[in-house]
Amino acid sequence: MQKSIKIFITIIIIGISITIIGLLLYFNPDWPDNNDNDDRMFKRAHHRTYEGFEKDYNLEWKKDFFFIQAADPQYGLMEKLENPNLIISTNWTNERELLTKAIKQWNEMNPKPRFVVICGDLVNDPPFQNQTKRREQLNDLKKDLHQLDQSIPLILLPGNHDLMDKPTLESLKQYTDEFGDDYYSFWIDSIMFIVLNTQYYKNHDQMINEFNEQNKWIDEQLMDAKSNNYTHVIIFQHIPWFLKKIDEPDMDYNTIASKIRQPLMEKFIDANIHYIFAGHMHQNFEGEFFINDNRWLKMITTSAIGAQYHAIDTEPPSKSGYRIVNVTRTNIQQKYVQIEKE
Ligand SMILES: *[C@@H]1O[C@H](CO)[C@@H](O)[C@H](O)[C@H]1NC(C)=O
Ligand SMILES: *[C@@H]1O[C@H](CO)[C@@H](O)[C@H](O)[C@H]1NC(C)=O
Ligand SMILES: *[C@@H]1O[C@H](CO)[C@@H](O)[C@H](O)[C@H]1NC(C)=O
Ligand SMILES: *[C@@H]1O[C@H](CO)[C@@H](O)[C@H](O)[C@H]1NC(C)=O
Repeated sequence: MQKSIKIFITIIIIGISITIIGLLLYFNPDWPDNNDNDDRMFKRAHHRTYEGFEKDYNLEWKKDFFFIQAADPQYGLMEKLENPNLIISTNWTNERELLTKAIKQWNEMNPKPRFVVICGDLVNDPPFQNQTKRREQLNDLKKDLHQLDQSIPLILLPGNHDLMDKPTLESLKQYTDEFGDDYYSFWIDSIMFIVLNTQYYKNHDQMINEFNEQNKWIDEQLMDAKSNNYTHVIIFQHIPWFLKKIDEPDMDYNTIASKIRQPLMEKFIDANIHYIFAGHMHQNFEGEFFINDNRWLKMITTSAIGAQYHAIDTEPPSKSGYRIVNVTRTNIQQKYVQIEKE
């Protein structure tokens, strides 16, 4: 064969290969378009895991790190709390300022947080009440979250204002279309993180199948946690199981009913889980379920980035803030920091 024909055929083959690879990348639904940073940042939770923190590649302990745990930016609530007669809130400037300040603080940390997790209630107006307003709140929230340093992964999960107090297939779809999976697991340096959708424990009248699926999935995750020697296993969710004590009286709106939480907490302890982080209360709590020195679990409820409530008046009110969680091979330490320094 002539040399020029060989070169010609080689060029054709290379051309076809590049086209096929390009088409595969373009049409592969698992990989959001790389140019669309907007969506990519918010939709890394899919196939019940988190893109970049999949199990197979993250099973080696490396070195100490810390992450940020926050909750309830809830754009639109502050104005409502300040003006109880207000029918339509239109101003969420205060919440925007608080989140923006927090993000600036996270970006300036050195080293940077390994990730930021926001445990639900992203905006105040739930789906299907006033979709126009919800859209405005979500657009502003996304614009503000965009200021987060691109090297810090953002972990999101749904709360009652994201899915409604009584979730439906439609409210779930609105959330997942915008933010990806509602529950999933991810791994960093041999630490397993489990993200839960607690809304099903409040109400699943219209979502029996989804509720059962999550329960089955949780059992699989707990089997995994039990049979692998992970450095730590940590849970993130919106509604806390309890505030201070496992056997405290049920508090309807605030926590999960004791007949549901009691057996699950025992399963969690059996799976070596020691830390659960939640939001929802807009007030800080540190609870514990202690059986013995090996079998114990801390239930950490973190106040809001946005509006503060003082729902439990025997406990101190909180100020807008977030938690810094330090992780070493043997230890986890956390503290709540205020956004506005005094
Ligand atoms: C929105 O609220 C902020 C903070 O309370 C206030 O400074 C601002 O003037 C308000 N904006 C409008 C358009 O009312
Ligand atoms: C819904 O929200 C939009 C935008 O904030 C507002 O202009 C409109 O009046 C609201 N509609 C109702 C019925 O409250
Ligand atoms: C589990 O991991 C620890 C270190 O993280 C190690 O000391 C221990 O031997 C491991 N146990 C098993 C059963 O592999
Ligand atoms: C986390 O570690 C840093 C650096 O060692 C330390 O300054 C900070 O106080 C620790 N925070 C907590 C909550 O333990």
